[in-house]
Amino acid sequence: MDKFVIQGRRRLSGKIAIGGAKNAALPIMAATLLSSRSHLLLNIPTLGDTTTIGRLLQRLGATVQYTKEGLSICVTSIEHCEAPYDLVKTMRASVLVLGPLLARCGEAHLSLPGGCTIGSRPINLHLEALKKMGAEISINHGVVHAKARRLHGADIHFDIPTVTGTENIMMAATGARGTTLLTNAACEPEVVDLATFLTTLGFRIEGAGTPQIRIEGIGHEPDRDTAYVIIPDRIEAGTYMAAAMITRGDIYLSTCHPSHLVSICGALREAGATITEENDGIRVQGGKIHPVRVTTRPHPGFPTDMQAQLMAVLALSSGMSVVTETVFDGRLNHIAELARMGADITHHGQDTTIRGVPRLSGAPVMASDLRGGAALVLAGLAAEDLTHVSRVYHIDRGYEKMEAKLSGVGASIERISGAV
Ligand code: EPU
Repeated sequence: MDKFVIQGRRRLSGKIAIGGAKNAALPIMAATLLSSRSHLLLNIPTLGDTTTIGRLLQRLGATVQYTKEGLSICVTSIEHCEAPYDLVKTMRASVLVLGPLLARCGEAHLSLPGGCTIGSRPINLHLEALKKMGAEISINHGVVHAKARRLHGADIHFDIPTVTGTENIMMAATGARGTTLLTNAACEPEVVDLATFLTTLGFRIEGAGTPQIRIEGIGHEPDRDTAYVIIPDRIEAGTYMAAAMITRGDIYLSTCHPSHLVSICGALREAGATITEENDGIRVQGGKIHPVRVTTRPHPGFPTDMQAQLMAVLALSSGMSVVTETVFDGRLNHIAELARMGADITHHGQDTTIRGVPRLSGAPVMASDLRGGAALVLAGLAAEDLTHVSRVYHIDRGYEKMEAKLSGVGASIERISGAV
């Protein structure tokens, strides 16, 4: 297992290019199952999770190749309709093949993802929606079996706006007979990107980006090859914005979409960052960090995927902050690790109280999930002396070349391969 060793207290300055969005790449890669034509996907980040879904697509029968231009995927025919446990257990987003498999083959078998380090994360809303569309669903020995000769359109109201649930049902509905209307659907930019990709293939989808999405099933497979560029990763951008703040640095993030970053910019500005839009990117200058109150919410609210990184920044603020996590019930593993570095941080229920301290001190800490791991790296960038962040594989699932990007703006961060 690799670890990062960080020598902290270096002011970061320079330019970081933001890569393609992990959470857009994953559903779009899954959506290639809906057609036997070839797809060229551009701006797909090279990450643990995109590699895992590529492997899953190959198991199902896809040809997946990295070429000079981008990632080429072609699923001439589906050979297996099963997402096995060895892949699902490493990446919950494997659930995204359920809708496309059911639409294309009338059958799908998915090892049920269990709980994970950020919460219980059931998939009941995906399964209830598929049942409403006529799928027969049973669960045996930890495997979801779904069957439907042809799904039919339905009116589906999500009790909670689920991101992968909305994406799964949107994909399933492209092959259904009739129209599907989703209400209280997730509005995240990644949902919009999937809808745009599906529309490029020839499917009919309206309303993505609003809580009401209408999908008209088409009675045939798409007959076009596609080339598609994935949107930039707003959470990667937010994480490096936090790096500028915590080191009182000055970082220009190129190739990001400011319109996807409104709530993140709002919270970071309130906490003291100077943020300006320049050309095709955003410049972030850190200064004195002010305490804030922030609550995570579905888009357009402040994203839960930035909660841990914000806490790392607030650990060095001039007063008391409260961060309330309302999306996941267990996204808190980074709290005890930040406390090991000197943060004054306690949580009760959904609320975490962070009393700013003048300095953090380097320590050995352990990443136990992707964003929590990123928060520990941020804390290490600001801390005195050395911070050792172990279990970097969590971070590699969602950040492409993090150490290279941070070194490029002046951080002292080294990857030690094979460390315990
Ligand atoms: N929920 C249910 N039942 C369901 C589905 C969801 O109760 O059937 C609950 C969840 O337990 C959670 C809430 O609904 O409390 C929202 O979960 P959602 O389904 O939206 O999460 P997700 O689709 O599993 C995606 C991202 C996550 C991100 C969340 C929230 C992908 C591949 N994953 O997960 O990304 O945190 O939306 O925005 O898109 C990450 O990148 O670090 C990450 C975890």
